Amino acid sequence: MKKIVISLISLLLFISVKAQNNQEIHAVMNKIRLDFMLDANGRPSYNVFFAEKPVINKSYLGIMLADDSSFDKNFEITGSENTMVDETWQPVWGEVKNIRNHYHQIVIHLKQKDAKSRLMNIIFRVFEDGVGFRYEFPKQPGLKYFTVADELTEFSLTGDHKTFWIPGDYDSNEYQYTVSPISMVDASVLAKSATDIAVRVVPDKYAIQTPLMMKTADGLYINIHEAALSNYTSMQLHVDTKTLKLTANLVPDAVGNKAYMEAPCSTPWRTIIVSDKAADILTSKMILNLNEPSKIENTSWIKPMKFVGIWLEMQTGKSTWNYADRADTLGVDGQLIPNGKHGANTANVKRYIDFAAKNGINGVLVEGWNVGWEDWFGNWKENVFDFVTPYPDFNVKEITEYATSKGVKMIMHNETSGSATNYERQMDTAFRFMNKYGYTSVKTGYVGKIIPRGEHHDGPWMVAHYVRVAQKAAQYHVMLDAHEPVRPTGLQRTYPNWMACEAGRGNEYNLFTSGNNPNHETIMPFTRLMGGPMDYTPGIFHIKGYSNVPGRQVHTTLAKQLALYITMYSPLQMAADIPDNYEKHMDAFQFIKDVAVDWDDTKIIEAEPGEYITIARKEKNAANWYIGAITNESSRNAAIPLNFLGDEGKYVAIIYADAANADWKENPEAYQVAKYLVNSKTKLNIKLANGGGAAISIKPVSEEDKGLKFYK
Ligand code: NOJ
Ligand code: CA
Repeated sequence: MKKIVISLISLLLFISVKAQNNQEIHAVMNKIRLDFMLDANGRPSYNVFFAEKPVINKSYLGIMLADDSSFDKNFEITGSENTMVDETWQPVWGEVKNIRNHYHQIVIHLKQKDAKSRLMNIIFRVFEDGVGFRYEFPKQPGLKYFTVADELTEFSLTGDHKTFWIPGDYDSNEYQYTVSPISMVDASVLAKSATDIAVRVVPDKYAIQTPLMMKTADGLYINIHEAALSNYTSMQLHVDTKTLKLTANLVPDAVGNKAYMEAPCSTPWRTIIVSDKAADILTSKMILNLNEPSKIENTSWIKPMKFVGIWLEMQTGKSTWNYADRADTLGVDGQLIPNGKHGANTANVKRYIDFAAKNGINGVLVEGWNVGWEDWFGNWKENVFDFVTPYPDFNVKEITEYATSKGVKMIMHNETSGSATNYERQMDTAFRFMNKYGYTSVKTGYVGKIIPRGEHHDGPWMVAHYVRVAQKAAQYHVMLDAHEPVRPTGLQRTYPNWMACEAGRGNEYNLFTSGNNPNHETIMPFTRLMGGPMDYTPGIFHIKGYSNVPGRQVHTTLAKQLALYITMYSPLQMAADIPDNYEKHMDAFQFIKDVAVDWDDTKIIEAEPGEYITIARKEKNAANWYIGAITNESSRNAAIPLNFLGDEGKYVAIIYADAANADWKENPEAYQVAKYLVNSKTKLNIKLANGGGAAISIKPVSEEDKGLKFYK
């Protein structure tokens, strides 16, 4: 890793100390400017500008401690340090091969002007695409152990921005997005109308979740989130709908506290990403850059992959996770009475393994394999699963041997039903079981109310729990995909085996509820995915007719499901449908077979939150490119210049597009596949249906393609 760190004396020019009680510090990086000041009462505040336009108006900073003392005023600046960093690092896997980390850091040393003389530093990192800042509490005589009661950080908005928001729920991110001026936020309506299985706790109707995406009337795109959340609690935002000021709203633990600190320590980073181009928000690597480098030294066992799974058949009611209908009615021999619909049976698993092996898919996930699913949910029960005892029809040894013989990796499923205490007790046993039977990755789940009782999915206890699971998984060389955790904050840089999270409303809501709005997938990359990859479970081909509930269907076209492999980035990518449905459309399934899951490069070709996204990605260590283009409920033409292809040479593009008469509601499964020669001068122009999309694979031309026509 090349690292250039320069302590810049010349940067001191940016610092102007105006008066003892009114001290200001400025930092500039390209179009971004940060102003910091202490007012006459010693209150710290900051402003952010983009190309001289205000992005964040004067906003106060501080922390409130549980002993009733505040860390928000009566400060003086005792010093500050400037550094410039310009380094490039390589993620273990990712959207790009090289990540540039280029920022100007200012550490501002503050001291409270009272008898205790307590110290706090505020660290700003000013990047070309925004600002990150955190509070740091140095080692000091006046402060050692302390409890955070509240964070007073403000983000004062410059107007009533168009906002893409979900409620500030302590337990769930599984919501549809509302697009409204920020002054119209009322989270209670959404929380009350939710009827699905996620636990929902929304005490403040004006609280909204981050990553928060906004667009100003004069065309600035602003994204607020946090980075490197591990020894703290997650931050939501309380909206003052009159003053348009956002304030940090920290998710409490069971006794109402937010964090337990021991100096020296620091909070997570608060992040503000800004640009006049929506595409730049998706390109930003600021959140990853604010996280610590990998703590895992040997990462050779971490391998992105695609997988299929015994999963959708349960989501649609075709089979069940549970082996028996009831746990308390036993047969003559004292055994569970099989209901005849159990999905995770050896024969069925072998079918999925065969399908995976035949199609070059690396992994097979099996849910409902272990005893406990008869009453797993809704009882706030502590010891539901032991994570090692299979149902009688799931022969783990035979399955492992079969998978190994076919070159397929089994993916473990550890649903905790929210009982994190039980999982913590069982974790070593569970991971040893995975090692023994050759499972190299695990999907965890936290459906239900959390145990320890009173804790929340997004609270400090659980934040630490998810990290413990990632660390434990790393110790056993197991890759992790967590469902229902706190939303990610870039920790995948530090724990690259923590490949994906759900932490949002996945494609599964199209299967067991009234679904996701057709604009959902055009918003998620700007919100939930800003913190890290999502296991969205794309690739559903049977769009309509899988359910008896009138009107229930997937809210996309089939071609859009293919495009999601590119627009919803994840290094663990599921082909979510059942083999039968893929076998009916093998020409379309070819894209899922081909598409990569790890990338050298990514180009955001065009993007507008809530409307459309087109992304091209270059496969890691290969010359192939894959493109995904999606739209919301309105049809549109995606214009895709292929100028990112090398100047030399011809390529073959396979275009998987909506058929001319496709429509997400009326005719979603109509698609067309066409093959052309293309080069770097080609401009594709592809019609996306209402709620539609297109996927394109591009490979260097081979002998057999020489007769193809050029795209016109
Ligand atoms: C919810 C998860 O999101 C889903 O993927 C899983 O199948 C169920 N929980 C059962 O664990
Ligand atoms: Ca879920």
